Amino acid sequence: MASQNPKTIATINFKGGVGKTTVTWCLGDIVSAFSDTKVLLFDLDAQMSLTQAIALNEDGYSLEPEFQKWYEASVDKRKTIFDALDRYARPNQHFDFPAGFDFIYQLTDNLHFVPSVEDLYWMELEVFDRDAVKDFVRRLMGKITTSAKLPKYDYVLFDCPPSFTLLSYSVLSCCDLILIPVNPDYFASKGINLILNSLKMKIEPFPLPQIGVFMNKAKTRGTLTKDTRFYMREIERVCKQAAESQNISAKFLESWIPDRVGVKRAITSGGVPKELRDPFQKLWHEVMEYMQ
Ligand SMILES: Nc1ncnc2c1ncn2[C@@H]1O[C@H](COP(=O)(O)OP(=O)(O)O)[C@@H](O)[C@H]1O
Ligand SMILES: [Mg+2]
Repeated sequence: MASQNPKTIATINFKGGVGKTTVTWCLGDIVSAFSDTKVLLFDLDAQMSLTQAIALNEDGYSLEPEFQKWYEASVDKRKTIFDALDRYARPNQHFDFPAGFDFIYQLTDNLHFVPSVEDLYWMELEVFDRDAVKDFVRRLMGKITTSAKLPKYDYVLFDCPPSFTLLSYSVLSCCDLILIPVNPDYFASKGINLILNSLKMKIEPFPLPQIGVFMNKAKTRGTLTKDTRFYMREIERVCKQAAESQNISAKFLESWIPDRVGVKRAITSGGVPKELRDPFQKLWHEVMEYMQ
């Protein structure tokens, strides 16, 4: 399965709460369960939702001691994602950041994780050269794919913040696919319109990756509700329009993820709930077909 370069997917949306973190985790969980498929997850959100969820024990209250210990060591040794960026941005120095398991945490054999750190909050205030930083994630991926200490990853999934930070632009400038979850509400198509019509310009001079938009938290009563179907048609129309007018590859995916409370336990209890495995698998297959 392992190919030369991993396929990279970034989950984004301007809006918080649409399910970026949940979807990134669930896809990582589903895909790493295929035998011999190595997945690396990045938490790039300074709000640290994914990192905090992973740090929690199954009881949901206490901290997982093994991860906690590893995390503190990673911070002490200056091996976090922020330290990597800090090294990268130093003027007139080559990017010295060997990538190993003090930077990447092994959740399972196949599922590995780069946590977020609070320092990312303040990053926007530091004087980084915006255009230079755009190339940071590409260079970091280079360190990861050439490291003799790390496995060859098949997929790398980035959980991005709800705002467009330096780091998000850096990811969007080099990933293969941008995955945008939306929710069935009135504002979704307006938000999508805004993103699809501004991304290309923001990422220049880098080419815009393929974009896949899909419905998360779809309402069902046996089958999809009339409302959810209405919003899906609206968003699909916006995607088609933007794809034509901007000349970009943006598609509204047919697969959707239903609204199910069970998903709240997916991260701390380690697995995608049974009733959501099929929808996430379908979504993954459609994403893979689209990326061919
Ligand atoms: N398919 C779903 N069904 C029900 N709840 C969901 C679903 N997807 C996400 N949620 C819930 O919505 C909230 C926001 O999700 P999250 O993944 O943190 O969003 P984001 O990362 O976009 O801010 C969380 O409480 C999460 O459990
Ligand atoms: Mg999030």
